[in-house]
Amino acid sequence: MTETSGGAGRGKVPITVAYGDGIGPEIMEATLRVLDAAGAQLAPETIQIGRAVYERGISAGIEPASWESLRRTKVFLKAPITTPEGGGFKSLNVTVRKSLGLFANVRPCQSYAPFVATKYPGMDVVIVRENEEDLYGGIEHRQTDEVTQCLKLISRPGSERIVRYAFEYARQYGRRKVTCFTKDNIMKITDGLFHHVFDEVAAEYPEIQNEHWIVDIGAAKLATAPEQFDVIVMPNLYGDILSDVAAQVAGSVGIAGSANIGSEVAMFEAIHGSAPRRAGKNEANPSGLLLAGVQMLVHIGQGEVATRVHNAWLATLEDGVHTYDIFNPSVSKEKVGTREFATAVIERLGKEPKVLKAVHYPAHGRPITVTVKPRARPHKELVGTDVFVEWLGAPKDLGQMLERLAAPDLRLVMITNRGTKVYPEGVPETLCVDHWRCRFQSAQGEGPVTPEQVVALLSRLVGGGVPPIKTEGLFTFDGKPGFSLGQGQ
Ligand code: IPM
Ligand code: MG
Repeated sequence: MTETSGGAGRGKVPITVAYGDGIGPEIMEATLRVLDAAGAQLAPETIQIGRAVYERGISAGIEPASWESLRRTKVFLKAPITTPEGGGFKSLNVTVRKSLGLFANVRPCQSYAPFVATKYPGMDVVIVRENEEDLYGGIEHRQTDEVTQCLKLISRPGSERIVRYAFEYARQYGRRKVTCFTKDNIMKITDGLFHHVFDEVAAEYPEIQNEHWIVDIGAAKLATAPEQFDVIVMPNLYGDILSDVAAQVAGSVGIAGSANIGSEVAMFEAIHGSAPRRAGKNEANPSGLLLAGVQMLVHIGQGEVATRVHNAWLATLEDGVHTYDIFNPSVSKEKVGTREFATAVIERLGKEPKVLKAVHYPAHGRPITVTVKPRARPHKELVGTDVFVEWLGAPKDLGQMLERLAAPDLRLVMITNRGTKVYPEGVPETLCVDHWRCRFQSAQGEGPVTPEQVVALLSRLVGGGVPPIKTEGLFTFDGKPGFSLGQGQ
């Protein structure tokens, strides 16, 4: 190995490596052995994460000093870890993604038929998952005895960044179509924003087809006709769920790699977990982490090495050298363990697959960068408030009391229970729990209200025995309402 081969002439690239828990150490060792044999120019720095760190009482599963390594190398190859069950432990994955701004989660889900069994031999989908927002904010509250809440936050810059990333990815990798999945028929404001931004950005890429599906039917199509899709971009939670579905439909979650890309730092991992029951047995398939390693090599400009590793891996699959998880007597020739699989890949370095399509990464590709376009801020006006209260009586009694407390400058517009209007004009069939959303607007109609009027209302509610559990401002933006109308029935 020479100092410059495949390293864009820059010598060895420092990376941070974590061996993780369960099968992590075995698959990391196998992966690094293959990358090294292929001529990857890497200077790995090892950090400890996961179980041992959690057990030392560090709730995030990563030592403060390890962050320093991540920030310095900016490249993290991470084996799976075991997050202890029970309260108090935070998901390391989520912490690393959010703290280091790894906004794009890229998960290629490709079938390798006939060598890995799948119903969909033509499948070649890349899921681009938003990685920081949505319900993953983890902002949850128990608000009343009966009701809990999780905040779903979707931002314009967050949506724009991920959608642009998906289109730039499609352009860079010669893909023909980008599809967006949302549930904007129900979440018109949050998912509606994501979809709207998708339409705006798509217009800047006329050479790439674009389409949107509501996520339920989109997911059904992905699971039964995945050949129809190319790149799919979606908010965090749908992307989490559907990337497992897509990887499994392609053949196995065990062989999919994943890249978490930020504007500074990037993290590469398998999409599967730490499989503790398989640990220490030299059985696990290292392919998911190895393919994540291939994504890493492309990211750091060692595309030739990435091509060599990926093609040798494809050739190994084709030769029927398979670990237990994909072993299938009709196509497999040899059942091997983790170490032997890595050795088989190393033996095939320099070879290309004959049946499966060979890959060719650009020799010194640049990481995809995206910028969010500056835009004028709209005129924002307060026009009311939604006050959530706990109440155990009938909607009519609450409504009449709140009408009195709203006066003179505000008026009660409606009360909903879990989003369904129950006052005025509710129906007795609606199940009411102890959590009510009460909307107040100006007594003069839809006009502006002042923050002082809202504060005075809140203090009247406290005095009236219905203290607020939460409030939301009702705002218009350039005259358009920024809140759902919540008629509900
Ligand atoms: C994934 C995982 C993580 C997620 C878990 C481990 C927090 O399921 O990477 O898809 O939900 O994002
Ligand atoms: Mg997941």
